[in-house]
Amino acid sequence: MVQAWYMDDAPGDPRRPHRAQPARPVSLEQLRRLGVNYWKLDADKYENDPDLEKIRRERNYSWMDIITICKDKLPNYEEKIKMFYEEHLHLDDEIRYILDGSGYFDVRDKEDKWIRIFMEKGDMITLPAGIYHRFTLDEKNYVQAMRLFVGEPVWTAYNRPADHFDAREQYMKFLAQTT
Ligand code: LAC
Ligand code: NI
Repeated sequence: MVQAWYMDDAPGDPRRPHRAQPARPVSLEQLRRLGVNYWKLDADKYENDPDLEKIRRERNYSWMDIITICKDKLPNYEEKIKMFYEEHLHLDDEIRYILDGSGYFDVRDKEDKWIRIFMEKGDMITLPAGIYHRFTLDEKNYVQAMRLFVGEPVWTAYNRPADHFDAREQYMKFLAQTT
């Protein structure tokens, strides 16, 4: 089961869990209402996994690569880490499948509060186009993830405020419809 929770407002290292006190866990259903989809897969067989193939076929995730985020493997590590943690949105869905290690995807809820989603090996997630989000490694400082995309990937991140984009307006409409 996915582990997600509301964050505290404490300053300090973003790689720590930052769980609100008292705890406010967030369910899959709550994430779904924000347009966030989640699957649990067997990451040991990602190279030949009918379940993964089915998701990719049904949702047209034709493109993929594998990124390793750690100090020794990622070029411009410090700069990228900083960029990932800037609150931003994309004009397309962000789709990630964790093959090894772990990290946190933070997403804004309807009231603009941060929800932190702990993602580890076997967790796959889609963040809808137009949702404000950010990413950080956790204290283990290592993640390997498959990045998927519908067609040719576009990595452009628009830092907040980016409310004038059509993708944002569409997302706000989606939020208004879900209860
Ligand atoms: C990205 C994630 C880190 O945009 O939000 O790649
Ligand atoms: Ni992003």
